[in-house]
Amino acid sequence: LLDVSGQVVVPSMNPLAVGSNVTLNLVPQSPINIGTWSYETTVIVICYPGGSSVSTHYQGRVSFNHSSSELSINSLQLHDSGLYTFQGMEPPITDVTLRANATDLVELNDTAIFTCSVSSGTSLSYRWLNGSSEVTASDRVRLSGGNSTLTIVSVTRYDEGPFRCEVINGISNGTSQPIGLNVSFPEMTIGHTAYKTGSDIILSCSAQSKPTESYKWRFNGTFLNEQSPQLSLQNIRENQTGSYACLAYNNVTIRFANINTMIKIVGEATVIVTKCHIPPILDQLFTLRCEVTGPVDYIHWLMNGQLISKNNRTFFSTGNKTMVINPIQLSDNGEYICEAFNAVSNLTSMAYKLVVNCEYYKSR
Ligand SMILES: *[C@@H]1O[C@H](CO)[C@@H](O)[C@H](O)[C@H]1NC(C)=O
Ligand SMILES: *[C@@H]1O[C@H](CO)[C@@H](O)[C@H](O)[C@H]1NC(C)=O
Ligand SMILES: *[C@@H]1O[C@H](CO)[C@@H](O)[C@H](O)[C@H]1NC(C)=O
Ligand SMILES: *[C@@H]1O[C@H](CO)[C@@H](O)[C@H](O)[C@H]1NC(C)=O
Ligand SMILES: *[C@@H]1O[C@H](CO)[C@@H](O)[C@H](O)[C@H]1NC(C)=O
Ligand SMILES: *[C@@H]1O[C@H](CO)[C@@H](O)[C@H](O)[C@H]1NC(C)=O
Ligand SMILES: *[C@@H]1O[C@H](CO)[C@@H](O)[C@H](O)[C@H]1NC(C)=O
Ligand SMILES: *[C@@H]1O[C@H](CO)[C@@H](O)[C@H](O)[C@H]1NC(C)=O
Ligand SMILES: *[C@@H]1O[C@H](CO)[C@@H](O)[C@H](O)[C@H]1NC(C)=O
Ligand SMILES: *[C@@H]1O[C@H](CO)[C@@H](O)[C@H](O)[C@H]1NC(C)=O
Ligand SMILES: *[C@@H]1O[C@H](CO)[C@@H](O)[C@H](O)[C@H]1NC(C)=O
Ligand SMILES: *[C@@H]1O[C@H](CO)[C@@H](O)[C@H](O)[C@H]1NC(C)=O
Repeated sequence: LLDVSGQVVVPSMNPLAVGSNVTLNLVPQSPINIGTWSYETTVIVICYPGGSSVSTHYQGRVSFNHSSSELSINSLQLHDSGLYTFQGMEPPITDVTLRANATDLVELNDTAIFTCSVSSGTSLSYRWLNGSSEVTASDRVRLSGGNSTLTIVSVTRYDEGPFRCEVINGISNGTSQPIGLNVSFPEMTIGHTAYKTGSDIILSCSAQSKPTESYKWRFNGTFLNEQSPQLSLQNIRENQTGSYACLAYNNVTIRFANINTMIKIVGEATVIVTKCHIPPILDQLFTLRCEVTGPVDYIHWLMNGQLISKNNRTFFSTGNKTMVINPIQLSDNGEYICEAFNAVSNLTSMAYKLVVNCEYYKSR
């Protein structure tokens, strides 16, 4: 019983009776393309890709299974005792070569394609490595061509590798040289997403890729006259609100990576509370207004520091600028303020002290 590259020959039974049958197996089993089964120095069967040939002496007594390399011998005689060997003649794996369709890629835009090949070797199985971890198929990662091709769609900055392929067959193995990917992606640095009119702002763009990039800037889709990684805007106005994009060009692949940011330029708001001409009279309707100048996103009202919610006597209209209490009650006495917010300001009005007037009611 002989060892073939870590495999051993295992008989179905041993010893055996004269006249019985035996099956010889290779353990662990693996398909072998080229090899011979021999008894001592006599060849029993030769197998080759697509077929096998039994020597005349054994014809009619043996059968060979190509896919398992299993050999069966019938009607055993005393003179069949001895040493049986299997000699694999797989060509060993040589020159495992990894190729990448392209290594300078743009994040999310590009697909990485790796192909693994060998100059010799059969019955190959492939394993892919990213650094030291195995690459397995997923929605972004596909293995094809009997696993000899690795495809990564929508590459990201984290797919940098190094990638290697490992090829294994029954008798040998080999690993390719590593290939790393250079995935370009720009990053834009901005302080805030909203600025007050009149401010000076600087947007910075950096692209993590080699070779050095050149830059372009766009505002609402229109190219600006700026080619440095910094875009400087002085004394900004409301009409500069919009989408700023940095495009980082890789001068080798002549392609670009793109990043977009919305920036809002807003004026500051001011706010005061006014009451309408009608004084606060018990059981009557009473209205307070929040007078806002400048852009405002949100207004709310507070009474004695507590947020006022809409209820069956309190209503808000014109974007909360108007608060109506109807009918007004003595419990409504207190200090009222309105607060107005936009992206750059947070304003609180002076307090309005409400004292519900009963005299007028009594005098009626
Ligand atoms: C040996 O194999 C032959 C052919 O497959 C079969 O006819 C015979 O019954 C087998 N003998 C024993 C002892 O199993
Ligand atoms: C050959 O071996 C394979 C794998 O063990 C098995 O599936 C198949 O049935 C065998 N064929 C014959 C003719 O015994
Ligand atoms: C990979 O590159 C080869 C030649 O460089 C080209 O023929 C093939 O179309 C490319 N494959 C893809 C999917 O881009
Ligand atoms: C490809 O690799 C997977 C594991 O990643 C394995 O399950 C599959 O059998 C392999 N396919 C081939 C044809 O080797
Ligand atoms: C590759 O072959 C070497 C001996 O040449 C062996 O030590 C190693 O375990 C094998 N690796 C695999 C994954 O089969
Ligand atoms: C924005 O408005 C200023 C005047 O207020 C004007 O000079 C400038 O051209 C405008 N910019 C754009 C992009 O419309
Ligand atoms: C830029 O785009 C923003 C958002 O789409 C829009 O509100 C703004 O009016 C645009 N500005 C100019 C000057 O086109
Ligand atoms: C790419 O840009 C770098 C730096 O600007 C320059 O040194 C290099 O020669 C350029 N390469 C090509 C192919 O234009
Ligand atoms: C990235 O993909 C978009 C949409 O498919 C395309 O418009 C853009 O030109 C691509 N950019 C590069 C650098 O290929
Ligand atoms: C009005 O104020 C209420 C709270 O009192 C708030 O839930 C609501 O979002 C505000 N609406 C606007 C347009 O400011
Ligand atoms: C208004 O709500 C108060 C409780 O918040 C309740 O006591 C009162 O009956 C309600 N009035 C009407 C007219 O629904
Ligand atoms: C408004 O500003 C005050 C003090 O600066 C702060 O306590 C409060 O949380 C701010 N409110 C909002 C909604 O930003």
